[in-house]
Amino acid sequence: MNPYIAAAVAEMDKVAVSRLEHPGDLALDPASCRFVAAFARALGARRALEFGSGFSTLMLARELAAQEDNYLLSIDDSARHSRTAREAVENSGCQAKVEFRVAPLKPEFYGLRLLLSYSLAPGLLDAMGPFDLVLIDTPHHKFGREAVFYDAFRAVRPGGYVVMAGANREAEENLYVRNWMSAFGEAIDPVLLEGIGSGISVIEKISEAEPHYPVRGALWTSFKTLYGYGRLLSGGEQ
Ligand SMILES: C[S@@+](CC[C@H](N)C(=O)[O-])C[C@H]1O[C@@H](n2cnc3c(N)ncnc32)[C@H](O)[C@@H]1O
Repeated sequence: MNPYIAAAVAEMDKVAVSRLEHPGDLALDPASCRFVAAFARALGARRALEFGSGFSTLMLARELAAQEDNYLLSIDDSARHSRTAREAVENSGCQAKVEFRVAPLKPEFYGLRLLLSYSLAPGLLDAMGPFDLVLIDTPHHKFGREAVFYDAFRAVRPGGYVVMAGANREAEENLYVRNWMSAFGEAIDPVLLEGIGSGISVIEKISEAEPHYPVRGALWTSFKTLYGYGRLLSGGEQ
């Protein structure tokens, strides 16, 4: 097994997740929190990127704080949840450098695939990287997660990792990973840890590569994206 994953699995039970602090169902589940923290520690991660601000932001920030010149960029589409995560980090007294950005989701083409993507300033992720670790724990809107990996890939250093929570969901997250493998081939190496929380995918970036976005399923995916976006605009996904 990958030595960083093995170290994180061996050490994760030692990571404290306070029941008083953990806000409940919508936050990253406690087992996944423990793994993400232990994995960041095993990597000695200094710069991290997160999609989906919340309790996980605090867990990551506490790990990064041990490293000099640390930095965490946390992105969310909800101003309210971003503010809650910011307050949690500030009130915790954690000394890590954490920056929060609110970016609405919008449909965007990746090849023939219309996907929901965070509307970030062009070049922002490249400018703030390279990142050692990316956590994907975004809302579960239809096809709200596939684009995040495409957007983040260039900003991850080779030998860096992307971790996706909630990875056991067959119809959605498993499909995302298959599409990322199709887009990046041997430039990425995914491992699924089914037994941790609701599943964790750990994807190593092996090398730089230009994505070849899958064509298969593009029409159906695009329909689902428009449906998900409609629900998002009408408040049905909140
Ligand atoms: C799967 S949640 C996880 C958020 C974060 N990673 C965490 O550990 O709390 C994904 C999204 O739900 C939203 N969210 C966060 N906390 C929430 C809450 N208490 N109630 C409703 N939505 C929430 C945020 O917009 C966030 O991007």
